Amino acid sequence: MPLFAKKDETKVDYSRLPQHIAIIMDGNGRWAKGRGLPRTAGHAAGAETFRTIATYCREIGIKYLTVYAFSTENWKRPMAEVSAIMGLLKKYLMEAIRDMEKEKVRFVFFGDLTPLPAELRELAEETQARSAVYEGCQVNICLNYGGRDEILRAARALAAECAEGKRSPEELTEEDVSNCLWSAGIPDPDLVIRPSGEERISNFLLWQSAYAEYYFTDVCWPDFDKEELRKALAAYQSRSRRFGGV
Ligand code: IPE
Ligand code: IPE
Ligand code: MG
Repeated sequence: MPLFAKKDETKVDYSRLPQHIAIIMDGNGRWAKGRGLPRTAGHAAGAETFRTIATYCREIGIKYLTVYAFSTENWKRPMAEVSAIMGLLKKYLMEAIRDMEKEKVRFVFFGDLTPLPAELRELAEETQARSAVYEGCQVNICLNYGGRDEILRAARALAAECAEGKRSPEELTEEDVSNCLWSAGIPDPDLVIRPSGEERISNFLLWQSAYAEYYFTDVCWPDFDKEELRKALAAYQSRSRRFGGV
Protein backbone atom coordinates (compact mmCIF):
# COMPACT_ATOMS: atom_id res chain seq x y z
CA MET A 1 0.00 0.00 0.00
CA PRO A 2 1.44 3.41 -0.93
CA LEU A 3 2.35 5.35 2.22
CA PHE A 4 2.06 8.71 0.50
CA ALA A 5 0.67 9.87 -2.80
CA LYS A 6 2.97 11.61 -5.26
CA LYS A 7 2.06 15.24 -5.85
CA ASP A 8 0.34 14.70 -9.19
CA GLU A 9 -1.47 11.50 -8.18
CA THR A 10 -5.22 11.38 -7.64
CA LYS A 11 -5.81 11.01 -3.91
CA VAL A 12 -7.35 7.77 -2.75
CA ASP A 13 -8.19 6.69 0.79
CA TYR A 14 -6.55 3.27 0.85
CA SER A 15 -8.38 2.37 4.06
CA ARG A 16 -11.75 2.58 2.25
CA LEU A 17 -11.19 0.57 -0.90
CA PRO A 18 -13.91 -1.41 -2.63
CA GLN A 19 -13.70 -5.09 -1.79
CA HIS A 20 -14.55 -6.15 -5.34
CA ILE A 21 -13.79 -4.29 -8.59
CA ALA A 22 -15.13 -5.50 -11.94
CA ILE A 23 -13.83 -4.23 -15.28
CA ILE A 24 -15.19 -4.42 -18.83
CA MET A 25 -11.84 -4.33 -20.67
CA ASP A 26 -13.11 -2.49 -23.75
CA GLY A 27 -11.60 -0.32 -26.48
CA ASN A 28 -8.69 -2.47 -27.65
CA GLY A 29 -9.79 -2.28 -31.29
CA ARG A 30 -10.26 1.49 -31.33
CA TRP A 31 -6.93 1.98 -29.55
CA ALA A 32 -5.21 0.01 -32.33
CA LYS A 33 -7.12 1.74 -35.12
CA GLY A 34 -6.09 5.13 -33.75
CA ARG A 35 -2.47 4.05 -34.16
CA GLY A 36 -2.87 2.51 -37.59
CA LEU A 37 -2.35 -0.97 -36.09
CA PRO A 38 -4.36 -4.18 -36.56
CA ARG A 39 -7.06 -4.86 -33.92
CA THR A 40 -5.03 -7.80 -32.62
CA ALA A 41 -2.24 -5.39 -31.60
CA GLY A 42 -4.87 -3.69 -29.42
CA HIS A 43 -5.72 -6.99 -27.76
CA ALA A 44 -2.03 -7.65 -27.08
CA ALA A 45 -1.67 -4.17 -25.52
CA GLY A 46 -4.86 -4.80 -23.52
CA ALA A 47 -3.38 -8.00 -22.08
CA GLU A 48 -0.40 -5.98 -20.81
CA THR A 49 -2.77 -3.46 -19.21
CA PHE A 50 -4.54 -6.32 -17.47
CA ARG A 51 -1.21 -7.48 -16.04
CA THR A 52 -0.42 -3.98 -14.72
CA ILE A 53 -3.86 -3.38 -13.23
CA ALA A 54 -4.15 -6.84 -11.64
CA THR A 55 -0.73 -6.41 -10.00
CA TYR A 56 -1.65 -2.94 -8.76
CA CYS A 57 -4.97 -4.16 -7.35
CA ARG A 58 -3.12 -6.88 -5.47
CA GLU A 59 -0.54 -4.38 -4.16
CA ILE A 60 -3.12 -1.94 -2.79
CA GLY A 61 -5.16 -4.74 -1.23
CA ILE A 62 -8.19 -5.28 -3.48
CA LYS A 63 -9.66 -8.68 -2.51
CA TYR A 64 -11.52 -9.46 -5.75
CA LEU A 65 -10.96 -8.30 -9.31
CA THR A 66 -13.31 -9.57 -12.03
CA VAL A 67 -12.47 -8.90 -15.66
CA TYR A 68 -14.51 -9.40 -18.82
CA ALA A 69 -12.14 -11.04 -21.30
CA PHE A 70 -14.51 -12.66 -23.83
CA SER A 71 -18.30 -12.55 -23.93
CA THR A 72 -20.84 -15.07 -25.21
CA GLU A 73 -21.50 -12.47 -27.96
CA ASN A 74 -17.84 -12.07 -28.99
CA TRP A 75 -18.05 -15.28 -31.11
CA LYS A 76 -19.75 -13.04 -33.71
CA ARG A 77 -16.37 -11.49 -34.55
CA PRO A 78 -14.27 -12.58 -37.55
CA MET A 79 -12.68 -15.97 -36.93
CA ALA A 80 -9.17 -14.53 -37.26
CA GLU A 81 -9.82 -12.05 -34.44
CA VAL A 82 -11.38 -14.71 -32.19
CA SER A 83 -8.35 -16.97 -32.80
CA ALA A 84 -5.96 -14.13 -32.03
CA ILE A 85 -7.75 -13.42 -28.73
CA MET A 86 -7.67 -17.14 -27.82
CA GLY A 87 -3.95 -17.23 -28.66
CA LEU A 88 -3.25 -14.24 -26.42
CA LEU A 89 -5.23 -15.81 -23.58
CA LYS A 90 -3.18 -18.99 -23.95
CA LYS A 91 0.06 -17.02 -23.82
CA TYR A 92 -1.14 -15.09 -20.78
CA LEU A 93 -2.13 -18.24 -18.89
CA MET A 94 1.18 -19.95 -19.62
CA GLU A 95 2.93 -16.91 -18.15
CA ALA A 96 0.55 -16.85 -15.19
CA ILE A 97 1.40 -20.48 -14.43
CA ARG A 98 5.12 -19.69 -14.76
CA ASP A 99 4.90 -16.70 -12.38
CA MET A 100 2.38 -18.19 -9.98
CA GLU A 101 4.77 -18.76 -7.07
CA LYS A 102 5.81 -15.11 -7.15
CA GLU A 103 2.43 -13.46 -7.83
CA LYS A 104 0.30 -15.63 -5.52
CA VAL A 105 -2.93 -14.64 -7.24
CA ARG A 106 -5.91 -16.99 -7.17
CA PHE A 107 -7.53 -17.30 -10.60
CA VAL A 108 -11.14 -18.36 -11.10
CA PHE A 109 -12.91 -18.59 -14.47
CA PHE A 110 -16.51 -17.48 -14.97
CA GLY A 111 -18.19 -18.89 -18.07
CA ASP A 112 -18.66 -22.15 -19.93
CA LEU A 113 -15.19 -23.22 -21.02
CA THR A 114 -16.36 -26.22 -23.08
CA PRO A 115 -16.54 -24.43 -26.49
CA LEU A 116 -12.98 -23.10 -26.12
CA PRO A 117 -10.01 -24.65 -27.93
CA ALA A 118 -8.98 -27.71 -25.86
CA GLU A 119 -5.51 -26.40 -25.11
CA LEU A 120 -6.85 -23.11 -23.75
CA ARG A 121 -9.51 -24.86 -21.70
CA GLU A 122 -6.92 -27.16 -20.13
CA LEU A 123 -4.65 -24.21 -19.33
CA ALA A 124 -7.56 -22.37 -17.69
CA GLU A 125 -8.44 -25.42 -15.62
CA GLU A 126 -4.82 -25.92 -14.63
CA THR A 127 -4.42 -22.24 -13.68
CA GLN A 128 -7.57 -22.35 -11.56
CA ALA A 129 -6.65 -25.62 -9.83
CA ARG A 130 -3.02 -24.71 -9.11
CA SER A 131 -3.75 -21.19 -7.89
CA ALA A 132 -6.56 -22.27 -5.55
CA VAL A 133 -4.11 -22.36 -2.61
CA TYR A 134 -3.46 -18.59 -2.75
CA GLU A 135 -5.53 -16.32 -0.55
CA GLY A 136 -4.30 -12.77 -1.10
CA CYS A 137 -6.15 -11.56 -4.17
CA GLN A 138 -8.68 -13.38 -6.35
CA VAL A 139 -8.88 -12.57 -10.04
CA ASN A 140 -12.00 -13.82 -11.81
CA ILE A 141 -11.62 -14.04 -15.57
CA CYS A 142 -14.89 -14.00 -17.51
CA LEU A 143 -14.33 -16.18 -20.55
CA ASN A 144 -17.22 -17.11 -22.84
CA TYR A 145 -19.25 -15.34 -20.17
CA GLY A 146 -22.72 -13.83 -20.49
CA GLY A 147 -24.87 -12.56 -17.64
CA ARG A 148 -28.08 -13.88 -19.20
CA ASP A 149 -26.50 -17.26 -19.92
CA GLU A 150 -25.39 -17.40 -16.27
CA ILE A 151 -28.89 -16.61 -14.95
CA LEU A 152 -30.47 -19.10 -17.37
CA ARG A 153 -28.13 -21.84 -16.12
CA ALA A 154 -29.08 -21.02 -12.53
CA ALA A 155 -32.78 -21.15 -13.44
CA ARG A 156 -32.29 -24.53 -15.10
CA ALA A 157 -30.38 -25.93 -12.12
CA LEU A 158 -33.03 -24.78 -9.66
CA ALA A 159 -35.87 -25.96 -11.91
CA ALA A 160 -34.23 -29.39 -12.08
CA GLU A 161 -34.02 -29.58 -8.28
CA CYS A 162 -37.68 -28.63 -8.04
CA ALA A 163 -38.64 -31.22 -10.68
CA GLU A 164 -36.77 -33.88 -8.72
CA GLY A 165 -38.73 -32.87 -5.63
CA LYS A 166 -35.60 -31.74 -3.73
CA ARG A 167 -36.94 -28.18 -3.42
CA SER A 168 -40.18 -26.38 -3.83
CA PRO A 169 -40.41 -23.17 -5.92
CA GLU A 170 -41.95 -21.16 -3.07
CA GLU A 171 -38.97 -21.67 -0.78
CA LEU A 172 -36.33 -20.48 -3.28
CA THR A 173 -34.42 -17.36 -2.21
CA GLU A 174 -32.18 -14.78 -3.86
CA GLU A 175 -29.30 -16.50 -2.09
CA ASP A 176 -30.19 -19.77 -3.84
CA VAL A 177 -29.89 -18.00 -7.19
CA SER A 178 -26.57 -16.38 -6.19
CA ASN A 179 -25.26 -19.79 -5.20
CA CYS A 180 -25.95 -21.15 -8.68
CA LEU A 181 -23.88 -18.45 -10.43
CA TRP A 182 -20.22 -18.70 -11.42
CA SER A 183 -19.60 -16.12 -8.68
CA ALA A 184 -21.07 -18.27 -5.89
CA GLY A 185 -19.52 -17.36 -2.55
CA ILE A 186 -17.94 -14.13 -3.83
CA PRO A 187 -19.27 -10.74 -2.67
CA ASP A 188 -21.02 -8.63 -5.32
CA PRO A 189 -18.88 -6.05 -7.16
CA ASP A 190 -18.81 -2.65 -5.44
CA LEU A 191 -17.42 -0.86 -8.48
CA VAL A 192 -17.83 -1.68 -12.18
CA ILE A 193 -15.47 0.15 -14.53
CA ARG A 194 -15.97 0.49 -18.28
CA PRO A 195 -13.34 2.31 -20.31
CA SER A 196 -13.57 3.23 -24.03
CA GLY A 197 -16.47 5.68 -23.84
CA GLU A 198 -19.26 3.08 -24.11
CA GLU A 199 -21.85 3.38 -21.39
CA ARG A 200 -23.58 0.00 -21.43
CA ILE A 201 -23.37 -3.28 -19.55
CA SER A 202 -22.99 -5.64 -22.54
CA ASN A 203 -24.30 -8.63 -20.57
CA PHE A 204 -21.74 -8.34 -17.74
CA LEU A 205 -22.54 -9.49 -14.17
CA LEU A 206 -26.25 -8.65 -14.56
CA TRP A 207 -27.37 -10.24 -11.29
CA GLN A 208 -24.31 -9.34 -9.24
CA SER A 209 -24.23 -5.64 -10.20
CA ALA A 210 -27.68 -4.83 -8.81
CA TYR A 211 -26.12 -2.27 -6.46
CA ALA A 212 -22.70 -1.68 -8.00
CA GLU A 213 -21.37 1.83 -8.57
CA TYR A 214 -20.54 2.38 -12.25
CA TYR A 215 -17.56 4.35 -13.52
CA PHE A 216 -17.17 5.20 -17.20
CA THR A 217 -14.18 6.82 -18.87
CA ASP A 218 -13.28 7.64 -22.49
CA VAL A 219 -9.79 6.19 -22.10
CA CYS A 220 -9.38 2.95 -24.09
CA TRP A 221 -8.37 -0.12 -22.10
CA PRO A 222 -4.74 -0.30 -23.38
CA ASP A 223 -4.24 3.27 -22.06
CA PHE A 224 -5.91 2.55 -18.71
CA ASP A 225 -3.09 2.83 -16.17
CA LYS A 226 -2.68 3.02 -12.39
CA GLU A 227 -3.64 6.70 -12.38
CA GLU A 228 -6.87 5.89 -14.27
CA LEU A 229 -7.64 3.29 -11.62
CA ARG A 230 -6.97 5.84 -8.88
CA LYS A 231 -9.42 8.22 -10.61
CA ALA A 232 -12.05 5.46 -10.61
CA LEU A 233 -11.37 4.73 -6.93
CA ALA A 234 -11.60 8.42 -6.02
CA ALA A 235 -14.93 8.70 -7.90
CA TYR A 236 -16.19 5.61 -6.08
CA GLN A 237 -15.18 7.07 -2.73
CA SER A 238 -17.02 10.31 -3.48
CA ARG A 239 -20.34 8.49 -3.89
CA SER A 240 -22.95 7.85 -1.25
CA ARG A 241 -24.17 4.24 -1.37
CA ARG A 242 -27.65 3.99 0.06
CA PHE A 243 -28.85 0.54 -1.05
CA GLY A 244 -32.40 1.83 -1.09
CA GLY A 245 -32.16 3.32 2.40
CA VAL A 246 -31.78 6.98 3.35
C1 IPE B 1 -12.41 -5.38 -25.92
O1 IPE B 1 -11.98 -4.53 -26.93
C2 IPE B 1 -11.86 -6.77 -26.08
C3 IPE B 1 -12.87 -7.81 -26.36
C4 IPE B 1 -14.16 -7.60 -26.49
C5 IPE B 1 -12.39 -9.17 -26.50
P1 IPE B 1 -12.76 -4.44 -28.32
O2 IPE B 1 -12.17 -5.42 -29.25
O3 IPE B 1 -14.22 -4.57 -28.11
O4 IPE B 1 -12.40 -2.97 -28.78
P2 IPE B 1 -13.36 -1.95 -29.54
O5 IPE B 1 -14.58 -1.81 -28.69
O6 IPE B 1 -13.65 -2.55 -30.86
O7 IPE B 1 -12.57 -0.69 -29.61
C1 IPE C 1 -17.71 -6.31 -23.92
O1 IPE C 1 -17.16 -5.55 -24.94
C2 IPE C 1 -17.03 -7.63 -23.81
C3 IPE C 1 -15.63 -7.59 -23.37
C4 IPE C 1 -14.94 -6.54 -23.07
C5 IPE C 1 -14.99 -8.88 -23.29
P1 IPE C 1 -17.76 -5.55 -26.43
O2 IPE C 1 -16.90 -4.64 -27.20
O3 IPE C 1 -17.91 -6.94 -26.90
O4 IPE C 1 -19.20 -4.93 -26.17
P2 IPE C 1 -20.15 -4.16 -27.19
O5 IPE C 1 -20.18 -4.96 -28.45
O6 IPE C 1 -19.58 -2.81 -27.40
O7 IPE C 1 -21.46 -4.10 -26.47
MG1 MG D 1 -15.69 -3.22 -27.74
